[in-house]
Amino acid sequence: MSGADAPRRGPGAPLGRSAVVRVDPERPDSGVLGRAGRLIREGRLVAFPTETVYGLGANALDDDAVRRIYAVKGRAASDPLIVHLAGVEALREVTASSGDGPRSSAHTTHTTNKGIRRESERGGTLHSKDAPFEEIVRLLAAHFWPGPLTLVLPKSDRIPDSVTAGLGTVAVRVPRHPVAQGLLRAAGVPIAAPSANTFTRTSATSAAHVVEDLGPGVDLILDGGPTPIGIESTVVQVVGNIVRLLRPGAVAVEAIDRALAKGGWTPVMVLRSAASGSGRTPADGTAGADTPLPQPTSSPGMLEKHYAPRARLLFFSGPPDAARAALRAATVEALVHGQRVGLLLCHEDITSFSNLTTHAAARHPTSEDASGRNSPIAGSPVPDGARVASSLLLEDLGPVDDLALVGQRLFAAMRRLDALGVDTICARSLPTAGLGLAIDDRLTRAAGGHVVHVR
Ligand code: TXA
Ligand code: MG
Repeated sequence: MSGADAPRRGPGAPLGRSAVVRVDPERPDSGVLGRAGRLIREGRLVAFPTETVYGLGANALDDDAVRRIYAVKGRAASDPLIVHLAGVEALREVTASSGDGPRSSAHTTHTTNKGIRRESERGGTLHSKDAPFEEIVRLLAAHFWPGPLTLVLPKSDRIPDSVTAGLGTVAVRVPRHPVAQGLLRAAGVPIAAPSANTFTRTSATSAAHVVEDLGPGVDLILDGGPTPIGIESTVVQVVGNIVRLLRPGAVAVEAIDRALAKGGWTPVMVLRSAASGSGRTPADGTAGADTPLPQPTSSPGMLEKHYAPRARLLFFSGPPDAARAALRAATVEALVHGQRVGLLLCHEDITSFSNLTTHAAARHPTSEDASGRNSPIAGSPVPDGARVASSLLLEDLGPVDDLALVGQRLFAAMRRLDALGVDTICARSLPTAGLGLAIDDRLTRAAGGHVVHVR
């Protein structure tokens, strides 16, 4: 484990070559976790697998260590981090307690299912008895933790402003991956961790991705193999009795709605910006993007260009036949102009493109492919000869009715196409129910404005 005994440096100073240590994703070695936990306590950076993507972790209570995260990622200081906890009992340490912490960021009065309350009466703490806020937080934590749901809550003074980009709220989640859990328990402190990729780039779903992006800036990389979900956590903010979606992710909004319904609460409020245009509208009809109560809060990290490969990504959104046709036309045009093109396709679409390629080359089954279900794509004749064929690379994301598999493969597929030097990547929209909303969101943002809406 190189770098373990190096002296502590200032923010952004790399400590030399990062060490990559393999760990069993189910039963990680306690000695390795102990050393990793010590590094965290010493203010170093440790990358680790979670069930969603790899995180770049630092002691969330150590301002210098947190600043190194921003420096190593090249992350904008205005984009706050998620604080990871070993268990729900650690919430009190990082969120505001009654009367002594900042309030929730909504400043309007709001309607509860029991009538109108003034801001001064509402939750915003985890300790005020019977506040809707407290009940909802408990309910969501009980349903989804450990797991890929992030809650944005009022922050405690113990959390440095560097973690929250100066906001009065902090994003928290309890991950369920055994390596993340083991690291948190070994460290004994909350761990602030963004996705372990260069800022605005595709998230890292394997240790190799972390090395590729962040390399020597990280003191230790725990390699627990490919991450099982492959898409980041769902981020919601709880304000009074309202749960607002800030980032669609691995927990389906429908699942959160079902949990809320059990407590008699209204469904998640989905802003159009969080649902990327083609996503769902507010399910309950009580509050939407145009509804004045409560004030919409955007998530600072929801940049228009995010999760992006190096290649230009064209995303065709609309009904399947129209989107396929537009994708095909754009592909042919790019090939004719001498570009190298990569396609992110659901399994069913592969045959539609088979007459464009003799050897769809892009399948490189690697350890990143946890399922092993992805097989090389069979070739078929090509009209314009080998030049076109060798310039077209296909990635099979999996069947359209298995969005969990599509999500797991998505970022790794983008990175493979980048590594193969494509100029343009094309993808089309898939159904937006369940995990589909997050997949749609990531492709929209990866396209960074190059979204073609077809009818
Ligand atoms: O699955 C995940 O969430 C992964 C793993 C490592 O846990 N983490 C991750 O972190 O995706 P990151 O930093 O890439 O994305 C965190 C998101 C950003 O969109 C950020 O703006 C938002 O959470 N966020 C963090 N703190 C917030 C706050 N106080 N208010 C609103 N949004 C916040
Ligand atoms: Mg990220």
